[in-house]
Amino acid sequence: MKKAIVTGHSKGLGAALATQLEADGWEVLGISRSGGAEVDLGSPQALDAWLGSGALGEFLADATDLILINNAGTVGPIGFIGKQDAAAIEQAVNLNVTAPLMLTDAVVRDRPAGVPLRIVHISSGAGRRPSETWSTYCATKAAIDMHAATLAAEGLDGVRVASIAPGVVDTGMQELIRGSDFPSRDRFQALKDQGQLSSPEKAAGQILTLLNRADFGEKVLSDVRDA
Ligand SMILES: NC(=O)c1ccc[n+]([C@@H]2O[C@H](COP(=O)([O-])OP(=O)(O)OC[C@H]3O[C@@H](n4cnc5c(N)ncnc54)[C@H](OP(=O)(O)O)[C@@H]3O)[C@@H](O)[C@H]2O)c1
Repeated sequence: MKKAIVTGHSKGLGAALATQLEADGWEVLGISRSGGAEVDLGSPQALDAWLGSGALGEFLADATDLILINNAGTVGPIGFIGKQDAAAIEQAVNLNVTAPLMLTDAVVRDRPAGVPLRIVHISSGAGRRPSETWSTYCATKAAIDMHAATLAAEGLDGVRVASIAPGVVDTGMQELIRGSDFPSRDRFQALKDQGQLSSPEKAAGQILTLLNRADFGEKVLSDVRDA
């Protein structure tokens, strides 16, 4: 049985990834706050409780091929450093970093022996260049890039990983960005107005193209433009 775990599958890019994987014959376990396994990934305690519940082991038990896509994420809190809410920073770091690290660790540990595992962290260009008022987002995406690079360096048997930036995708996250007050907001509005946003379906297709290539994992820090 081909089995995939997709976090944040309830909308946006994650929904398109789950739909396309299912169409390709994968059984998908989605994790979000509103569907599939309902876990608040912004809470390490909630994720730890779910990981301890046996649900993951049960899902993995009869897998013959495995994919984990750490997709759930948040761009907030948007604001200059010195004007941020501590709880929002904590929630974002938990969702964008702690959850993918915990989930990856659990899936690597609990996968049935000998079953190949491909892991994708959904990164962002913001993790590779600074973007004022997005400090938490930039820092968290840089963190998962380095986690992927370290996992690749460990060379675990049967495990391949890439951290892939999806481009600027027309999702709820972009709506939130356009509705926020920050220096480069107009650039994001212009991309929308000029029809230059990628669709979730297109970005998901590019990510799965990369995932299905024989050389997947050779370029750990990747971008949909590589597809
Ligand atoms: N859109 C872009 O232009 C863009 C660009 C670069 C990178 N990315 C990355 O792409 C990924 C997907 O973003 P998107 O644009 O599709 O965002 P989105 O439309 O806002 O969707 C976010 C997904 O994450 C889930 N999620 C959010 N908070 C959660 C929580 N506390 N616990 C569990 N699940 C949670 C949401 O599900 P629930 O609300 O149901 O929990 C939803 O399914 C993110 O990692 C983002 O950083 C997006």
